Amino acid sequence: MPENTTDAPQQWTPVHGDPYRSVPYRPERMPAEESLDQADRLRHRMDGRRTVRRFSTDPVPEQVLRDAIACAATAPSGAHQQPWTFVLVKDPEVRRRIREAAEHEEKISYDGRLGEEWLAALRPLGTDAVKSHMTDAPGLIVVFQQRYWLGEDGTKRKHYYVDESVGIAVGMLLSALHLSGLSALIHTPSPMRFLREVLDRPENEKAFAVIPVGYPAEDCEVPDLVRKSLDQVMVEI
Ligand SMILES: Cc1cc2nc3c(=O)[nH]c(=O)nc-3n(C[C@H](O)[C@H](O)[C@H](O)COP(=O)(O)O)c2cc1C
Repeated sequence: MPENTTDAPQQWTPVHGDPYRSVPYRPERMPAEESLDQADRLRHRMDGRRTVRRFSTDPVPEQVLRDAIACAATAPSGAHQQPWTFVLVKDPEVRRRIREAAEHEEKISYDGRLGEEWLAALRPLGTDAVKSHMTDAPGLIVVFQQRYWLGEDGTKRKHYYVDESVGIAVGMLLSALHLSGLSALIHTPSPMRFLREVLDRPENEKAFAVIPVGYPAEDCEVPDLVRKSLDQVMVEI
């Protein structure tokens, strides 16, 4: 933990860097033409992202996963508390245990725990309790929220805007994976408590999502979804 370099009062929770000091920020300004071009390309590339549920077992370069996680960790966060942990699960035995526990919970959920309204919303997507992607996909990232800060001596401090911060970071992770040529699924088995036990995470961490990553299987198909148009999602005043 870096020490405060000013006489300012100690942060209530540890903040990395020295927020009491400012440094110049002068990113090179992009010419408007280039900006328009980049934005248009990015919009189309992002529109090509789809959630994949059938993965090839072909390996992916592990460094791409680390780089994508590093991108996600650049996300803004409430009071710069960076309340996230990304677990890159490589051990096949641990992955097998995650799948087994997830399928156990999902079977109970799909057998009725979710309730008819939720099940009806999922039905068109064709999802079920079988989670082969957890062991088929060559990469598996489990994201945890740090619900509060936990010091080594057991001290607890509040974290602010944890849901929002981790949601933004996961959005950036999915974007980074997609723009690096990989496909992913954001999977939220319910409940997810088993993940903290299987991955031996501390008590202040709560699982947020399981993200299998890889290449789509050769016969992969995705639901024929249509996204809302810009007019439907944006209001200009
Ligand atoms: C917070 C969140 C939770 C999700 N949980 C699941 C899940 O548990 N299982 C699943 O198959 N898909 C899950 N999805 C994926 C959505 O079903 C998918 O994003 C949506 O159908 C749109 O498809 P697209 O990602 O291809 O645009 C989740 C997505 C989000 C954002």
